[in-house]
Amino acid sequence: MKESPWPMRLEGLLFREVVESDLDVLISFRNDPGVNHFMVRTYVDPDDLRREWLAVPSSPTDYSCVVERDGRVVAMGFLEIVDGAGQPGHPTGTEGVIGYIVDPRAAGQGIGTATARALLRGAFDGLRLRRVTAAANADNLASVGVLERAGMRRERHALKALWHRDLGWLDEVGYALLHDEWAARIGETAHT
Ligand SMILES: CC(C)(COP(=O)(O)OP(=O)(O)OC[C@H]1O[C@@H](n2cnc3c(N)ncnc32)[C@H](O)[C@@H]1OP(=O)(O)O)[C@@H](O)C(=O)NCCC(=O)NCCS
Repeated sequence: MKESPWPMRLEGLLFREVVESDLDVLISFRNDPGVNHFMVRTYVDPDDLRREWLAVPSSPTDYSCVVERDGRVVAMGFLEIVDGAGQPGHPTGTEGVIGYIVDPRAAGQGIGTATARALLRGAFDGLRLRRVTAAANADNLASVGVLERAGMRRERHALKALWHRDLGWLDEVGYALLHDEWAARIGETAHT
C-alpha cells in the first residue's frame, strides 16, 4: 500500500485521516439540503457514511480526508485512485478522482479552494499519480470556481450526463490535471 499523503497543513487548515469522533460532524453537514442540491448522491444514510469513512484508512485506493480548522472539522475531501475499466495490463495507481464538501456554516471562506489544492498536492506529490480528474454539475458555479482557482483544466462538458433525483438530467463539466502540468507549475512558482 502507498503511504498516505496525510496529515498535511496548508493555508491554515489541517488535512488528516478520519477518526471515529469526526463522524457526527460529517453526518451533521453531509445531508444538508444545500449540499444535496449539488450532489448526485442526494442522501447518504448515516450508517453508510460511518461504514464508508471508517473503511478509508485501511483502503488501498481511498485517500479521502477530513479538513480541520482551529480544531473543528469543516470539510471533507475525497481522493480515490481509479485505474481504468479493467483493461488487461493497465498500469495501476496512476489516476485519481477528487471531490469535496464544505460545511455550509464555513462556506465562502476559501476552504473549498484550499481543499482542492491540498487534494492535488496529495495526489501528485504524495501518491505520485499521473493524472487527476474532477467533475461537477455544470450549474455548480461555486465548485467550478474552486476547480479553476485550484488550477485544473476543463476538458469536458457533457450534456445531460448526470441523473439527480430532484433535478433530473444535468450537464456535467469535467476537469483534469496531469502530473507534468502540476510539476511545471511548481517549477514556475519556484522561479517567481
Ligand atoms: C462548492 C463548495 C465546495 C465551495 O466551497 P467554499 O469553501 O465555499 O469555496 P471557496 O470559499 O473556496 O470559494 C467559494 C467562494 O468564496 C470566495 N472566497 C475564496 N476565498 C475566500 C475568503 N478567504 N473569504 C471569503 N470568500 C472567499 C471565492 O472567491 C468564491 O467566490 P465565488 O462564488 O464568487 O466564486 C461548497 O459550496 C460545497 O461543499 N457545496 C456542496 C457540495 C458540492 O457542491 N461539492 C462539490 C461537488 S462537485
